[in-house]
Amino acid sequence: MSALLEIDNVTKTFRTKGFFGKTKEVHALNGVSLSIEKGESIGIVGESGCGKSTLANLIVRLDEPTSGRILLDGTDISHMKEDELRPLRRRIQIVFQDPYSSLSPRMTIGQIVTEPMRVLGGHSEAETEERAKELLHMVGLQPSAMRRYPHEFSGGQRQRISIARALMTEPEILILDEPTSALDVSVQAQVLNILTDLRAKLHLTYLFISHNLAVVKYISDKTVVMRKGAVVETGPSEEILTHPSEAYTRELIEAVPMIGKPFRMPDDIAESV
Ligand SMILES: Nc1ncnc2c1ncn2[C@@H]1O[C@H](COP(=O)(O)OP(=O)(O)OP(=O)(O)O)[C@@H](O)[C@H]1O
Ligand SMILES: [Mg+2]
Repeated sequence: MSALLEIDNVTKTFRTKGFFGKTKEVHALNGVSLSIEKGESIGIVGESGCGKSTLANLIVRLDEPTSGRILLDGTDISHMKEDELRPLRRRIQIVFQDPYSSLSPRMTIGQIVTEPMRVLGGHSEAETEERAKELLHMVGLQPSAMRRYPHEFSGGQRQRISIARALMTEPEILILDEPTSALDVSVQAQVLNILTDLRAKLHLTYLFISHNLAVVKYISDKTVVMRKGAVVETGPSEEILTHPSEAYTRELIEAVPMIGKPFRMPDDIAESV
């Protein structure tokens, strides 16, 4: 049986024009292989520039790899044409790091959250709105949020809105690219708790990207450590954090402040909106 998602020896080289028109090559990924089973939560850690977002963007097909394959249920999607890809896009969604730039300022929360389902088509207006309200509720926001605009919300609330939007198409896999890095520690803990609850409720598979090993350990069963576009170490998150075998991993552990076990979100903390 094939894995839900399989990254097979993927490379990505960016070619950019430097000064005087000279072409510069950046080897963002150098042969990354990774297998994700249904229901797993995998964390990817590594220093800035090691290729984490590049990998995420290839998986959601915002870009194509230079070589290698990305298999969804055994089917290579890495160079699929858009019309073939469309039905598959529903299955993998992404949440980005910056909750300020990722929500369009002129759209209401209702328009933002329902958009992925409208693009997909095949659902009535009433059905779409109902699902948006249900998801907003799951991330701790009131239905009245639908009529409001992004600037009326805090960073943590915006990130919860991004999560609700990503879940509109009932995806199986959620790629979370540093979803809490821009947030204060206490708000970060709330969002992590919501993600943990959602994963259990909706039977989701997570690929959680962070530079913070403590955060990854909290959310992910398995941790993948990346360095300079390659995987250097993989194992159970607890094991990686307590007994890293690579000096690079030890450096990463020492570099982050341990936030400890994030607290459970009290029922009354879900800000009223
Ligand atoms: N579109 C692009 N064009 C040229 N180079 C790029 C492009 N995207 C990424 N890179 C380069 O590829 C490398 C990997 O970048 P990437 O954004 O994947 O790193 P990252 O691990 O996500 O870093 P961070 O933790 O800072 O988000 C970097 O050297 C980056 O400058
Ligand atoms: Mg990144």
